[in-house]
Amino acid sequence: MSDHAVPEYWLREGVERLLVDEAAIQRRVRELGAQLAREINDGKDIVLIPVLTGAIIFAADLMRAIPSRVRIGMVSVSSYGASTTSQGAIRAGELPKGITGKHVVIVDEILDSGATVRLLRREIGALAPASLRVCVLLRKQRAQALSTECEMVGFDIPDEFVVGYGLDFNDEFRNMPFVGVLGQAAIRARSG
Ligand code: IMP
Ligand code: MG
Repeated sequence: MSDHAVPEYWLREGVERLLVDEAAIQRRVRELGAQLAREINDGKDIVLIPVLTGAIIFAADLMRAIPSRVRIGMVSVSSYGASTTSQGAIRAGELPKGITGKHVVIVDEILDSGATVRLLRREIGALAPASLRVCVLLRKQRAQALSTECEMVGFDIPDEFVVGYGLDFNDEFRNMPFVGVLGQAAIRARSG
């Protein structure tokens, strides 16, 4: 998606390869915002529901690309149960108030296993919104992600571990303004 080199600082932090550059992200976010404004035109409010924490940067840019009345309400999704792996059971925190009758857009930065999006679609759908969409910036090319219902996708990317634009490794790299692949050495240095 880009031949540009990884900027010096991020290269030193272990980012190996640039996958989606800043300009491409900003262009695509503007398109997604314009699409939402076009599709939702009955005068009812749009409510963006970003999934904490990774989706905050995408949601902040996306809401400014929608020339309509937009509200925002965050939701958190956390793991629970005995499992310590990321594949364990998950549950949603408190849902924003006032969803009923509104046009709701669940905003996440990446669709991976799809568990987060499926859980939120079920729980938010039960609150009778006027319409419900899922909008993700990135979707990994893996069967579980591709088979998860999702109305809006920014970019399809390879099934690799990525960081930047909200995506983290151990809470780092969220502030990187582009999406890139973290090298194995950097992953090892930050594990354990
Ligand atoms: P899910 O597997 O689709 O439920 O995605 C769960 C969450 O895992 C996403 O919202 C991200 O926060 C995180 N995640 C998935 N893939 C990556 C990645 O490649 N880098 C960083 N975080 C990721
Ligand atoms: Mg997330």
